[in-house]
Amino acid sequence: MLHFCENSEQFKIGNRSLVSIYKEMVDTGLLEDEEDNFVVYSEQQVIENVNAYRTAFSKFGTDQRNLFGLSYAMKANYNTNLLKLLINSGVDHVTTVSGNELKIAEKFSEKLNGFVFNGTGKKLSELRKAQRVSKVTGKPVYINIDSEFDYDRIKLAIEDYENVKIMIRYNPDVTQMPNIHPYVATALANSKFGMNRTSCVAILKKMVDEGVKCSGIHTHLGSTISEISLFEQAVAAIKLLLGDCEEIGVDLHNFVVNIGGGLGIDYKRWIKNNVDEAPRTTYCTVEDLVEATSPLVALAKTNQMKLIFEPGRSLVGNTAVLCAKVIGTKQSSSGKHFLVSDISMNECIRPCLYSAYHHVAILSANRQNSPTNNFDVVGPVCESADFVGKSIPLSLTMDLQPSPVLIGVFDVGAYCGSMASNYNLRLRPIELMVSMDGKLDVIGQKESLTNVLSRFE
Ligand SMILES: Cc1ncc(COP(=O)(O)O)c(C=O)c1O
Repeated sequence: MLHFCENSEQFKIGNRSLVSIYKEMVDTGLLEDEEDNFVVYSEQQVIENVNAYRTAFSKFGTDQRNLFGLSYAMKANYNTNLLKLLINSGVDHVTTVSGNELKIAEKFSEKLNGFVFNGTGKKLSELRKAQRVSKVTGKPVYINIDSEFDYDRIKLAIEDYENVKIMIRYNPDVTQMPNIHPYVATALANSKFGMNRTSCVAILKKMVDEGVKCSGIHTHLGSTISEISLFEQAVAAIKLLLGDCEEIGVDLHNFVVNIGGGLGIDYKRWIKNNVDEAPRTTYCTVEDLVEATSPLVALAKTNQMKLIFEPGRSLVGNTAVLCAKVIGTKQSSSGKHFLVSDISMNECIRPCLYSAYHHVAILSANRQNSPTNNFDVVGPVCESADFVGKSIPLSLTMDLQPSPVLIGVFDVGAYCGSMASNYNLRLRPIELMVSMDGKLDVIGQKESLTNVLSRFE
C-alpha cells in the first residue's frame, strides 16, 4: 500500500519510504547503476485487492466459493512471483490470451480451479496446448469462441472435451463507452472481439446440432471502466442470451458466466488542487461490480452455475511504483520545462499509447522553497512520444546536486511491465516487493544484455 505521509512529505509502502528503499538498493548493490530505474510492489496491496473481491463475493452467502470464481487476467502483469502471490491470496483461475501464458499458468495448476483461454486469433498449436493443459492438470480450460472461424478451428484442434469447456464470447454492442479510450474498448459494435447476439445464437444452434457442449458465456466490455451502468448493461445483455440458450436447448446446468475484468482504478486519486486534472468523483468499486451481477445470482444458484470474474488491472494496477533518480532538467526555446530520468516509454507505455494518466511525483526532499513548474516528464528514448507525463506541476530546484532527487510514476502494476520493450536496447528494470514485514525481496531481476541479444546468436 502506498501511503503519502503529509507531515514528513514522504511516500511510503507500508513502513518503508521509497527514498529508504532506493538508498538500501544503492548501498547493497541491488541497483547496478544508481541512476537506473526500478519497480517496487506492495505485498499488502496485492493481498488487499484480492480480499476486496472475496469480501464482495461473501455478501452472497456462504456458498460463494461454488458460486464465484476469480480469474486473474495475467496479460496485466505476468511476473510469476506476483502471480504466485495472487494465487496464494485467493485467485482461483487464471485467464490467458496466448499459449505461452497458458504454459506459465499451468505451473500453478495445483492451487487453481481452472483456466480461461481467450483470443481473436488462436493458433492451432495454442488450442492443442489448451487441450494438453486440461489433460495434464485435470482442471477445466475454458476456451472462448470468438468467431465462426474460431469455432471451426477449435473443433479441428480439440479431440477430447472432457476438461476443455467451450464458451461463447458475446459482444453486447454497448453503444457508448464514456471516458474510455477507443483502444481499450472491446464491446462496441465495431470492436474486433466476440460476436453479437445474432451470431452467438447461430453458433449456439450449430453447437446443439453438432453435439458440441456449450459450457458458458464470456463477455468483456473493455478496460478502465469507471461507470457501473456499463456492467449493468452487460449483465442485462447476458440475461437475454441465457434466455436464448434455454430456448435453443443449451443445458444451463453447471454453466459458466465469465465476465471479463475491465474495472478501472482511479489513477488520478493522488491529484490535489489541480484544476486541469481534477480527480473523478464517480468510480465504481469491486463491490459495485459484484453487486451488478446480482440479477444473475438466482438463476446461477438454481442451475449450479458459476460466475467467473476475470480482472487484471483492479487486482494489480495500484500495487507498484516505478522510480528513478532525476538525471536533469532542461527548458526548450519556447519555455517548456522537461524533467529527464531513466523512466521511459519502455517501462510505461500507456501514456503515449493511449494518453493514459499516471501520477508522477518527486519522492525525495529538495522541495522546500522550490518553484513549481509544469514539466513534461520524459525519458532518454529517442522518440518525441517518449513521455510518462505531460505538464505535470512539480516543485523542483534546477540545482540537483548533491543529494539525489527521486521521482516516482505511480500505479504501474498493470499493463506497464507486461507491455515493456527493449527499444533503444534498454533493459527491463529490477522489480522488488516490500513484504508485509517491511523486507525488500527481489521479484524480478534486471534484464541482461546477453539475454536480449542471445536470439541473434
Ligand atoms: C478477455 C479479457 N479479460 C480480462 C481482461 C482484464 O481487463 P482489466 O485488466 O481491465 O481488468 C482483459 C483485458 O483487456 C481481456 O481482454
